[in-house]
Amino acid sequence: PTIHLLGVPVQDGTHEKGCLMGPDALRTAGLRDTLEGLGFDCVDHGNLSPAAIDPMPAGKGNALQFDAIASWTRTLAPKAYEMAKNGFPLFMGGDHSLSMGSVAGMARHAAEEGRELFVLWLDAHTDFNTPLTSESGNMHGMSVAAFCGLPELSGLYEAPLDHPVNPAQVHMMGIRSIDQKERDLLRRHHVKINDMRVLDEMGVIRPLMELIDEVKSRNAMLHVSLDVDFLDPEIAPAVGTTVPGGATLREAHLIMELLHESGYVSSLDLVELNPFLDHRGKTAELLTDLTASLFGRTIFDRPTRRPGPRHRSV
Ligand code: ARG
Ligand code: MN
Ligand code: MN
Ligand code: MN
Repeated sequence: PTIHLLGVPVQDGTHEKGCLMGPDALRTAGLRDTLEGLGFDCVDHGNLSPAAIDPMPAGKGNALQFDAIASWTRTLAPKAYEMAKNGFPLFMGGDHSLSMGSVAGMARHAAEEGRELFVLWLDAHTDFNTPLTSESGNMHGMSVAAFCGLPELSGLYEAPLDHPVNPAQVHMMGIRSIDQKERDLLRRHHVKINDMRVLDEMGVIRPLMELIDEVKSRNAMLHVSLDVDFLDPEIAPAVGTTVPGGATLREAHLIMELLHESGYVSSLDLVELNPFLDHRGKTAELLTDLTASLFGRTIFDRPTRRPGPRHRSV
């Protein structure tokens, strides 16, 4: 399929400034050329700018920049939906609040094709806060709760979601930081959490293949959301919310290669890249290399290579 690149320079979801430069750092790292080098047609749609919305009455709880995030989300969700009709959308962030729009758009697209949407959330954090549970008020910590349709966040969307993602179909990997009240919410909604302990004990293959097998058996689509802080800060310093003890370079590549081989990935978020905090572009380059693995780059020929990520697969 054609890969549709879209820059989403949102940073209102975090207190740390700099994610605004994320899309251009990925462009500078050569993301498009890399994908074209793997044989894909690419269209770069440039950077999204959010449409203005009427100010909303203050909701309950703690949510900073709610109106700004609502503007981004309401602009991005329909754009994601349109891009998905014509190929593989690749969202270049921007902070993780981006996923409120990208995933909602993909869920609508999937539903229209008669398919379910699963989400693979690669992150140190679960991002399942609501304004009622958040300690920081930062909305990048609320993305999953939003696209799963939790009512405290429904005001972000133009109308309550017709196709909220089923929290049991959100699989998280790399988790090592959860807020106190967020824990109870995660349990209550049955989000699938593979924390770092799971990766320590059994590596990435088993939990990932569990997800891939489920996606295949339901002929679903799979959206992948990659937060820079999923990775260990030693290899990926360019993020405001580093947490020690993250995924290694080899684990991350293996995940991407297995996802490629599955053939079921429909769309990708690359988020939380803060180029202001990077060392000589190394994090932007790492994200570019991981994306290449997701699209079929291998170290050497694989005996059972299958075609690249496709979301029209039947
Ligand atoms: N749980 C914390 C919060 O709600 C951190 C969230 C970090 N999220 C992220 N996308 N980096 O503030
Ligand atoms: Mn499609
Ligand atoms: Mn995140
Ligand atoms: Mn995170």
